[in-house]
Amino acid sequence: MKKRGRLRAMKQRRRMAVLAVVAWIAFGAVAALVILSRTTEETPGVTVQVTPAALSEAGEAGEALFEATCMECHGPNAAGTNLGPPLIHDIYNPGHHSDQAFYLAAANGVRAHHWPYGDMPAQTQVSREEVGLIVRYIRELQEANGIVAKSY
Ligand code: HEC
Repeated sequence: MKKRGRLRAMKQRRRMAVLAVVAWIAFGAVAALVILSRTTEETPGVTVQVTPAALSEAGEAGEALFEATCMECHGPNAAGTNLGPPLIHDIYNPGHHSDQAFYLAAANGVRAHHWPYGDMPAQTQVSREEVGLIVRYIRELQEANGIVAKSY
């Protein structure tokens, strides 16, 4: 009788030990998941404060095209999102990224080089003329936010 009792106590202790290990593994897995999801949410996601501009007629047409085609990644007012950089940013001042950079970006896409977002896919649903209007919109917004041509 006594022996059996001891055996039962031993079995119970072993069961508790197994349970503790399982609990630790579960806790570790949840913690790892929380940390991972946080880091993917936080990278890269640069957004800037943009002051809206009084737009010309061409600028307004460009704004509508931008919102339909580019805003998903470059954000409202081209202020940036988790998927693409702000274009109202000194990097994209006309001296560093000429209008040609916009035509090329829409026609061919962009290989990631300035930012950690990944590549930009080509946006061939907009014509060259439409990209010209988008550029007008971006330049007018840039100017209203103090981003002017600098030579490099
Ligand atoms: C699916 C997301 C996505 C869409 C849609 C998108 N872009 Fe981009 N774009 C990016 C990313 C990401 C980069 C940054 C690449 C880098 O330099 O690392 C970028 C970069 C650019 C650049 C810089 C090019 C260079 O030479 O460095 C321009 C200009 C640009 N985009 C314009 C546009 C325009 C105009 C549209 C709409 C017609 C548009 N993008 C739509 C994601 C997007």
